[in-house]
Amino acid sequence: MAKKKTLQKTAVKKPKQIKINLPQNSYSAYVGENIFSDFAKWQKILPSKRAFLIYDQILIQAHKNVKNELLAAGWTVESIVVQAGESLKDIQSVWPLFQQLMDKKADRWSVIFALGGGSVGDAVGFVASTYMRGLSWVGVPTTLLAQVDSSLGGKTGINHPAGKNLVGSFHQPSLVLCDVNFLNTLSTREIISGFAEAVKYGIVYDKIFFQKCIDLWPQILKKDPQALQWVVEKSLYWKAKAVVGDEKDLRGVREVLNFGHTFGHAIEKATNYEFFQHGEAVLLGMKFAILLSTQKNHLSVQKAAQILNFLQDVPVPKIPESVRWPQLFAPILKDKKNKDAKLKFVLLKDLGRSVLDNSSTEKELQDCYHSFLQLEKERTSV
Ligand SMILES: NC(=O)c1ccc[n+]([C@@H]2O[C@H](COP(=O)([O-])OP(=O)(O)OC[C@H]3O[C@@H](n4cnc5c(N)ncnc54)[C@H](O)[C@@H]3O)[C@@H](O)[C@H]2O)c1
Ligand SMILES: [Zn+2]
Repeated sequence: MAKKKTLQKTAVKKPKQIKINLPQNSYSAYVGENIFSDFAKWQKILPSKRAFLIYDQILIQAHKNVKNELLAAGWTVESIVVQAGESLKDIQSVWPLFQQLMDKKADRWSVIFALGGGSVGDAVGFVASTYMRGLSWVGVPTTLLAQVDSSLGGKTGINHPAGKNLVGSFHQPSLVLCDVNFLNTLSTREIISGFAEAVKYGIVYDKIFFQKCIDLWPQILKKDPQALQWVVEKSLYWKAKAVVGDEKDLRGVREVLNFGHTFGHAIEKATNYEFFQHGEAVLLGMKFAILLSTQKNHLSVQKAAQILNFLQDVPVPKIPESVRWPQLFAPILKDKKNKDAKLKFVLLKDLGRSVLDNSSTEKELQDCYHSFLQLEKERTSV
């Protein structure tokens, strides 16, 4: 009896597994709390017990915890610290990492761990894909954005002066470990940024998920681990489906995930990537796409209002008044989805159902921008 009680007390909720079944390189993501304590269970899929743990310098405690768990599981651990952010995705920042791996004698059986947000995942994944023609790597995402989105799908890469993510490769991780306890230290803006990408899955794929996001929103803001775990699990379920359906992003399946991104990227570009968090810009981009969906008669005004009502409640900064339409239209013209000089947008037919539209003219987009500015006037800025 006493034994049973102790077991109940110490039982940790089992992490949730999301499988990414690919022709080659299948792997799983796990979502839970304190999931590194289970590490011994997963290590058999990795080629050795030699870890090269590359981590964001602000994650001192998380790095310590992960390192200790790896040591306890019988691994050797070499750590390399980096400064996270877009500047990490410069060739100049990434190049010294190869030297450090050589100095620490990383070989082809070594396993690289990327501990940090999306910038660390992208840059370290890229290093893992190219060092000695490619090593195994484990993603340990620590921002909500990275947990719900960038950690899955194997898109690794760095930036080029000509544009973001222009140099890179597809290199799937061997394992992704999403510990929601890492999210405790995120700022509200970082939480909102990741949450916006999660809400996106609900809007384009799953109206029940969308409703659940609305219900959980107050708990998400408070960083409640159970609410976060639920949102990460559900998001990765949908992201995994898109990745499995279109591993190399060539068949248009992953294009749906671009909902809100055409206008979102334009806002980021027009403000030099300095003013908005990525997900904040995507949230504004989703509002634009919803308005355009009604303008193009794909979506009813009532449905649009239902979605917009919630999005209006999520506090993100407004586009600075100095930004003018031509600054927004220039990047829309260059969007990578455009084909044969037609402007392609992911729009909505209904909550949970998207449609690709390439019939918008500049005049229509500018009219939509006016409606967007009207809508923005109705909410208080943060
Ligand atoms: N590969 C993909 O499929 C994909 C998809 C979406 C975005 N991305 C990329 O992801 C990047 C953006 O992701 P991000 O916002 O996670 O970037 P990030 O790595 O720059 O992290 C954002 C900030 O949060 C801090 N941080 C990280 N973990 C923290 C924690 N637990 N507590 C407190 N602070 C923490 C970082 O130091 C940084 O200042 C962009 O470079 C984008 O291009 C990639
Ligand atoms: Zn995004």
